[in-house]
Amino acid sequence: MELGSGHLGWAREVALHTGHDGGQGLEVHELSVHFGGLKALDRVSFDVGMGEVVGVIGPNGAGKTTLFNVISGFLHPSGGVVRWRGRDLRHHRPHDLGRLGIARTLQGVGLWPRLTVAENVACGGEPSLRADVVSAIAGVWRSSGEERRLSHRVGQLLEELDIAQWAGRLPGALPHGVQKRVALARALMCDPALLLLDEPASGLSETDMADLSARIHALRARMSVVLVEHHMDLVMAICDRVVVLDFGQLVAAGTPEEIRSSSAVTTAYLGVAVGADVDASESDHAAG
Ligand SMILES: Nc1ncnc2c1ncn2[C@@H]1O[C@H](COP(=O)(O)OP(=O)(O)OP(=O)(O)O)[C@@H](O)[C@H]1O
Ligand SMILES: [Mg+2]
Repeated sequence: MELGSGHLGWAREVALHTGHDGGQGLEVHELSVHFGGLKALDRVSFDVGMGEVVGVIGPNGAGKTTLFNVISGFLHPSGGVVRWRGRDLRHHRPHDLGRLGIARTLQGVGLWPRLTVAENVACGGEPSLRADVVSAIAGVWRSSGEERRLSHRVGQLLEELDIAQWAGRLPGALPHGVQKRVALARALMCDPALLLLDEPASGLSETDMADLSARIHALRARMSVVLVEHHMDLVMAICDRVVVLDFGQLVAAGTPEEIRSSSAVTTAYLGVAVGADVDASESDHAAG
Protein backbone atom coordinates (compact mmCIF):
# COMPACT_ATOMS: atom_id res chain seq x y z
CA MET A 1 0.00 0.00 0.00
CA GLU A 2 1.43 3.30 -1.03
CA LEU A 3 0.89 6.75 0.31
CA GLY A 4 1.21 9.69 -2.02
CA SER A 5 2.88 12.60 -0.31
CA GLY A 6 -0.17 14.81 -0.86
CA HIS A 7 -2.36 12.42 1.09
CA LEU A 8 -0.03 11.46 3.89
CA GLY A 9 -2.18 12.99 6.61
CA TRP A 10 -5.30 10.90 6.31
CA ALA A 11 -3.88 8.02 4.28
CA ARG A 12 -1.35 7.27 7.00
CA GLU A 13 -4.19 6.78 9.43
CA VAL A 14 -6.40 4.76 7.11
CA ALA A 15 -3.64 2.56 5.73
CA LEU A 16 -2.23 1.66 9.07
CA HIS A 17 -5.45 0.93 10.82
CA THR A 18 -6.81 -1.47 8.27
CA GLY A 19 -6.46 -5.20 8.00
CA HIS A 20 -6.13 -5.98 11.68
CA ASP A 21 -7.16 -4.85 15.11
CA GLY A 22 -4.29 -3.15 16.95
CA GLY A 23 -6.50 -3.56 20.01
CA GLN A 24 -4.50 -3.83 23.17
CA GLY A 25 -1.17 -4.13 21.40
CA LEU A 26 1.20 -1.30 20.51
CA GLU A 27 -0.20 1.90 19.06
CA VAL A 28 2.17 4.56 17.79
CA HIS A 29 0.24 7.73 17.10
CA GLU A 30 1.56 10.82 15.35
CA LEU A 31 4.97 10.26 16.92
CA SER A 32 7.60 12.96 16.36
CA VAL A 33 11.17 13.28 17.57
CA HIS A 34 13.14 16.41 16.71
CA PHE A 35 16.86 16.81 17.32
CA GLY A 36 17.22 20.55 16.83
CA GLY A 37 16.14 21.13 13.23
CA LEU A 38 16.33 17.43 12.31
CA LYS A 39 13.02 15.56 12.25
CA ALA A 40 14.20 12.05 13.11
CA LEU A 41 10.52 11.02 13.33
CA ASP A 42 7.76 13.11 11.81
CA ARG A 43 4.19 12.25 12.85
CA VAL A 44 4.60 8.48 12.46
CA SER A 45 1.58 6.26 13.19
CA PHE A 46 1.18 2.50 13.10
CA ASP A 47 -0.14 -0.39 15.19
CA VAL A 48 1.20 -3.76 16.21
CA GLY A 49 -1.50 -6.24 17.17
CA MET A 50 -0.95 -8.93 19.81
CA GLY A 51 0.99 -11.82 18.28
CA GLU A 52 1.85 -9.86 15.14
CA VAL A 53 5.32 -9.55 13.62
CA VAL A 54 5.69 -6.10 12.08
CA GLY A 55 8.78 -5.11 10.13
CA VAL A 56 10.17 -1.57 10.17
CA ILE A 57 12.43 -0.88 7.23
CA GLY A 58 14.07 2.16 5.71
CA PRO A 59 17.50 3.43 4.73
CA ASN A 60 20.22 4.46 7.18
CA GLY A 61 19.12 7.42 9.26
CA ALA A 62 15.41 6.86 8.54
CA GLY A 63 14.51 6.93 12.24
CA LYS A 64 14.12 3.22 13.03
CA THR A 65 16.33 3.11 16.13
CA THR A 66 14.89 6.44 17.26
CA LEU A 67 11.46 4.82 17.16
CA PHE A 68 12.70 2.01 19.43
CA ASN A 69 14.35 4.56 21.71
CA VAL A 70 11.01 6.27 22.26
CA ILE A 71 9.02 3.06 22.75
CA SER A 72 11.57 1.87 25.28
CA GLY A 73 11.77 5.13 27.22
CA PHE A 74 15.31 6.20 26.28
CA LEU A 75 13.94 9.25 24.49
CA HIS A 76 10.88 11.34 25.11
CA PRO A 77 9.03 12.36 21.97
CA SER A 78 8.61 15.91 20.73
CA GLY A 79 5.00 15.05 19.91
CA GLY A 80 2.53 12.20 19.63
CA VAL A 81 2.07 9.22 21.87
CA VAL A 82 2.97 5.56 22.26
CA ARG A 83 0.19 3.43 23.73
CA TRP A 84 0.82 -0.09 24.97
CA ARG A 85 -1.99 -2.41 25.98
CA GLY A 86 -4.36 0.54 26.00
CA ARG A 87 -2.20 2.73 28.22
CA ASP A 88 -0.22 5.82 27.22
CA LEU A 89 3.53 5.47 27.82
CA ARG A 90 4.37 9.07 28.63
CA HIS A 91 6.96 9.12 31.37
CA HIS A 92 8.32 5.59 31.35
CA ARG A 93 12.04 4.92 31.61
CA PRO A 94 14.11 1.99 30.35
CA HIS A 95 14.06 0.36 33.80
CA ASP A 96 10.24 0.18 33.59
CA LEU A 97 10.33 -2.04 30.51
CA GLY A 98 10.40 -5.41 32.30
CA ARG A 99 7.34 -4.47 34.33
CA LEU A 100 5.58 -3.27 31.17
CA GLY A 101 6.35 -6.53 29.36
CA ILE A 102 8.54 -4.87 26.73
CA ALA A 103 12.07 -5.95 25.80
CA ARG A 104 14.50 -4.91 23.11
CA THR A 105 17.77 -5.94 21.61
CA LEU A 106 20.25 -3.24 20.69
CA GLN A 107 21.61 -2.47 17.25
CA GLY A 108 24.96 -4.28 17.22
CA VAL A 109 25.35 -6.71 20.12
CA GLY A 110 25.56 -4.63 23.30
CA LEU A 111 26.62 -7.36 25.74
CA TRP A 112 28.57 -6.66 28.92
CA PRO A 113 32.12 -7.73 28.02
CA ARG A 114 33.20 -8.59 31.57
CA LEU A 115 30.13 -10.68 32.40
CA THR A 116 29.76 -14.28 31.31
CA VAL A 117 27.08 -15.39 28.87
CA ALA A 118 24.86 -16.59 31.75
CA GLU A 119 25.38 -13.36 33.68
CA ASN A 120 24.54 -11.30 30.61
CA VAL A 121 21.29 -13.24 30.19
CA ALA A 122 20.51 -12.78 33.88
CA CYS A 123 20.79 -9.01 33.37
CA GLY A 124 17.54 -9.15 31.42
CA GLY A 125 15.67 -10.06 34.61
CA GLU A 126 14.07 -7.76 37.13
CA PRO A 127 16.57 -5.01 38.04
CA SER A 128 16.08 -5.44 41.79
CA LEU A 129 17.02 -9.09 41.56
CA ARG A 130 19.83 -8.99 39.02
CA ALA A 131 22.70 -8.84 41.47
CA ASP A 132 21.39 -11.80 43.41
CA VAL A 133 20.65 -13.79 40.29
CA VAL A 134 24.23 -13.24 39.16
CA SER A 135 25.42 -14.43 42.58
CA ALA A 136 23.14 -17.44 42.34
CA ILE A 137 24.51 -18.36 38.93
CA ALA A 138 28.03 -17.95 40.26
CA GLY A 139 27.19 -20.62 42.82
CA VAL A 140 26.47 -18.48 45.86
CA TRP A 141 23.19 -20.15 46.75
CA ARG A 142 21.96 -17.69 49.31
CA SER A 143 19.06 -16.85 47.06
CA SER A 144 15.38 -16.74 47.84
CA GLY A 145 12.84 -18.83 45.96
CA GLU A 146 12.25 -15.95 43.58
CA GLU A 147 15.95 -15.65 42.79
CA ARG A 148 16.18 -19.41 42.22
CA ARG A 149 13.21 -19.17 39.89
CA LEU A 150 15.01 -16.49 37.88
CA SER A 151 18.27 -18.41 37.71
CA HIS A 152 16.25 -21.42 36.56
CA ARG A 153 14.83 -19.17 33.84
CA VAL A 154 18.37 -18.25 32.76
CA GLY A 155 19.09 -21.97 32.38
CA GLN A 156 15.95 -22.48 30.32
CA LEU A 157 16.83 -19.64 27.96
CA LEU A 158 20.41 -20.82 27.56
CA GLU A 159 18.96 -24.17 26.45
CA GLU A 160 16.29 -22.63 24.26
CA LEU A 161 18.79 -20.44 22.42
CA ASP A 162 21.36 -23.26 22.17
CA ILE A 163 24.01 -21.34 24.08
CA ALA A 164 24.23 -23.40 27.29
CA GLN A 165 27.65 -24.74 26.31
CA TRP A 166 29.00 -21.17 26.49
CA ALA A 167 27.29 -20.23 29.78
CA GLY A 168 30.52 -19.54 31.65
CA ARG A 169 32.39 -17.84 28.79
CA LEU A 170 32.91 -14.14 28.20
CA PRO A 171 30.94 -13.12 25.10
CA GLY A 172 33.76 -11.25 23.29
CA ALA A 173 35.57 -14.48 22.41
CA LEU A 174 32.48 -16.18 20.96
CA PRO A 175 31.28 -16.23 17.33
CA HIS A 176 29.10 -13.27 16.33
CA GLY A 177 26.05 -15.49 15.79
CA VAL A 178 26.35 -16.81 19.35
CA GLN A 179 26.64 -13.28 20.74
CA LYS A 180 23.48 -12.30 18.91
CA ARG A 181 21.67 -15.28 20.47
CA VAL A 182 22.90 -14.25 23.91
CA ALA A 183 21.47 -10.77 23.31
CA LEU A 184 18.15 -12.34 22.30
CA ALA A 185 18.12 -14.57 25.37
CA ARG A 186 18.74 -11.53 27.57
CA ALA A 187 15.77 -9.77 25.99
CA LEU A 188 13.55 -12.81 26.57
CA MET A 189 14.47 -12.96 30.26
CA CYS A 190 11.56 -10.75 31.28
CA ASP A 191 9.05 -12.85 29.29
CA PRO A 192 8.06 -9.87 27.16
CA ALA A 193 4.73 -9.50 25.42
CA LEU A 194 6.40 -7.06 23.01
CA LEU A 195 9.88 -7.69 21.64
CA LEU A 196 11.74 -4.97 19.73
CA LEU A 197 14.56 -6.36 17.60
CA ASP A 198 17.00 -3.80 16.16
CA GLU A 199 18.84 -5.43 13.27
CA PRO A 200 19.08 -8.91 14.80
CA ALA A 201 20.44 -10.35 11.54
CA SER A 202 23.31 -7.91 11.05
CA GLY A 203 26.55 -9.79 10.48
CA LEU A 204 24.91 -13.22 10.55
CA SER A 205 25.84 -16.06 8.21
CA GLU A 206 23.17 -17.62 5.99
CA THR A 207 22.82 -20.51 8.45
CA ASP A 208 22.50 -18.21 11.46
CA MET A 209 19.95 -16.12 9.59
CA ALA A 210 17.80 -19.16 8.83
CA ASP A 211 18.02 -20.10 12.51
CA LEU A 212 16.97 -16.58 13.53
CA SER A 213 14.07 -16.62 11.11
CA ALA A 214 12.74 -19.86 12.62
CA ARG A 215 13.18 -18.51 16.16
CA ILE A 216 11.27 -15.29 15.47
CA HIS A 217 8.56 -17.28 13.77
CA ALA A 218 8.25 -19.45 16.86
CA LEU A 219 8.26 -16.45 19.24
CA ARG A 220 5.10 -15.03 17.72
CA ALA A 221 3.11 -17.66 19.62
CA ARG A 222 3.96 -15.89 22.87
CA MET A 223 4.59 -12.23 21.96
CA SER A 224 4.35 -9.43 19.41
CA VAL A 225 7.54 -8.57 17.57
CA VAL A 226 8.71 -5.37 15.90
CA LEU A 227 11.59 -6.17 13.60
CA VAL A 228 13.95 -3.47 12.36
CA GLU A 229 16.06 -5.02 9.62
CA HIS A 230 17.95 -4.28 6.44
CA HIS A 231 17.80 -7.91 5.27
CA MET A 232 14.72 -7.79 3.07
CA ASP A 233 14.48 -11.55 2.57
CA LEU A 234 14.13 -12.04 6.31
CA VAL A 235 11.60 -9.21 6.67
CA MET A 236 9.49 -10.40 3.76
CA ALA A 237 9.55 -14.00 4.95
CA ILE A 238 8.46 -13.54 8.55
CA CYS A 239 6.53 -10.27 8.89
CA ASP A 240 2.75 -10.00 8.79
CA ARG A 241 3.02 -6.35 7.85
CA VAL A 242 5.81 -3.94 7.06
CA VAL A 243 6.09 -0.19 7.59
CA VAL A 244 8.62 1.92 5.72
CA LEU A 245 10.34 4.98 7.12
CA ASP A 246 12.30 7.51 5.10
CA PHE A 247 13.80 10.66 6.60
CA GLY A 248 11.58 10.22 9.63
CA GLN A 249 8.36 9.92 7.65
CA LEU A 250 6.22 6.87 7.21
CA VAL A 251 6.09 6.50 3.43
CA ALA A 252 4.40 3.11 3.02
CA ALA A 253 2.78 0.31 4.97
CA GLY A 254 1.23 -2.98 3.98
CA THR A 255 1.75 -6.68 3.61
CA PRO A 256 5.17 -7.91 2.46
CA GLU A 257 3.72 -8.42 -1.04
CA GLU A 258 2.41 -4.87 -1.17
CA ILE A 259 5.68 -3.45 0.10
CA ARG A 260 7.75 -5.51 -2.33
CA SER A 261 6.03 -3.86 -5.28
CA SER A 262 5.85 -0.38 -3.77
CA SER A 263 7.59 2.38 -5.69
CA ALA A 264 7.69 4.42 -2.47
CA VAL A 265 10.04 1.78 -1.09
CA THR A 266 12.25 1.88 -4.16
CA THR A 267 12.33 5.65 -3.89
CA ALA A 268 13.28 5.49 -0.22
CA TYR A 269 16.16 3.11 -0.84
CA LEU A 270 17.40 4.22 -4.25
CA GLY A 271 16.26 7.83 -4.38
CA VAL A 272 14.29 7.36 -7.59
CA ALA A 273 10.87 5.86 -8.22
CA VAL A 274 10.46 2.93 -10.57
CA GLY A 275 8.95 4.25 -13.80
CA ALA A 276 9.83 7.83 -12.93
CA ASP A 277 10.81 10.04 -15.85
CA VAL A 278 14.56 10.14 -16.17
CA ASP A 279 16.64 11.96 -18.68
CA ALA A 280 17.32 9.53 -21.53
CA SER A 281 21.01 10.39 -21.74
CA GLU A 282 21.36 9.76 -18.00
CA SER A 283 19.71 6.33 -18.23
CA ASP A 284 21.84 5.46 -21.26
CA HIS A 285 24.89 6.52 -19.34
CA ALA A 286 23.80 4.43 -16.33
CA ALA A 287 23.11 1.42 -18.53
CA GLY A 288 26.37 1.73 -20.41
N1 LIG B 1 20.71 11.52 20.01
C1 LIG B 1 20.69 12.05 18.79
N2 LIG B 1 21.03 13.35 18.61
C2 LIG B 1 20.99 13.92 17.38
N3 LIG B 1 20.63 13.25 16.26
C3 LIG B 1 20.29 11.96 16.39
C4 LIG B 1 20.31 11.29 17.65
N4 LIG B 1 19.91 10.01 17.47
C5 LIG B 1 19.68 9.88 16.15
N5 LIG B 1 19.90 11.03 15.50
C6 LIG B 1 19.72 11.29 14.08
O1 LIG B 1 18.37 10.94 13.77
C7 LIG B 1 18.30 10.30 12.50
C8 LIG B 1 17.67 8.93 12.68
O2 LIG B 1 18.64 8.09 13.32
P1 LIG B 1 18.33 6.57 13.64
O3 LIG B 1 19.50 6.06 14.42
O4 LIG B 1 17.00 6.46 14.26
O5 LIG B 1 18.31 5.94 12.18
P2 LIG B 1 18.14 4.41 11.76
O6 LIG B 1 16.95 4.34 10.86
O7 LIG B 1 18.15 3.54 12.96
O8 LIG B 1 19.46 4.19 10.88
P3 LIG B 1 20.40 2.87 10.72
O9 LIG B 1 19.72 1.98 9.72
O10 LIG B 1 21.68 3.43 10.20
O11 LIG B 1 20.55 2.25 12.07
C9 LIG B 1 19.71 10.30 11.93
O12 LIG B 1 19.86 11.43 11.11
C10 LIG B 1 20.58 10.40 13.17
O13 LIG B 1 21.83 11.01 12.87
MG1 LIG C 1 19.37 2.05 13.67
